[in-house]
Amino acid sequence: MSSPENIHPTFGQLLGREAKEALLNQRGLVVWLYGLSGSGKSTLANGLERRLHGEGVITQVLDGDNIRAGLNSNLGFSDDDRRENIRRIAEVAKLFASAGVVTIASFICPRNELRALARGIVGQADFLEVYVECRFETCEQRDVKGLYAKAKAGGVKQFTGKDSAFDPPEPRETADLILNTDEQEESASLEQLYRAVQPRVALAKT
Ligand code: ADX
Repeated sequence: MSSPENIHPTFGQLLGREAKEALLNQRGLVVWLYGLSGSGKSTLANGLERRLHGEGVITQVLDGDNIRAGLNSNLGFSDDDRRENIRRIAEVAKLFASAGVVTIASFICPRNELRALARGIVGQADFLEVYVECRFETCEQRDVKGLYAKAKAGGVKQFTGKDSAFDPPEPRETADLILNTDEQEESASLEQLYRAVQPRVALAKT
């Protein structure tokens, strides 16, 4: 760890966020999608990114498997590692948002405390919390990555929803938006997501 007394942040000297947002003609934002593995987060993140991109919006998706293959490759799935995973991701998302980029984070982020941590790091004004709700049984049936079958056979430890907890938002109003992919078609969820995000990306007319 670095000694805090030898660290001298230079945030004050950096070119400001407003200048970057004006250049891009958009507002930076963090769209924080969370839910069980297989709930549909990545599909929605990718769909949202493509739609915004088509409208000339600069975006960046941060996704569980990708981040864990690189930046967070030293982390596992214990409570402490999941916390450190989310802390780093939130810090990265904050940097992207401060450069004016619409950042779409897609992680299980299984506890209320972890969502609060991310919201605190990013800052309330830039954080759109979206719970991608789906029953464990449905995710198990979909089993896109074959992990549910593997976990059932004992091949994946600390598997979320099985031997590691997933808490829905408590109270439910903590989430700015809840998309239920059990009940709703993908296209309807995506449309709802887009409608929540789009007004927050547009720069206020002066
Ligand atoms: S989080 O809990 O720390 O937010 P994260 O979203 O980064 O999780 O990573 C989840 C992804 O890792 C899943 O989509 C899945 O592909 C993979 N994975 C591997 N092992 C586990 C596990 N034990 N529990 C959940 N996901 C796992």
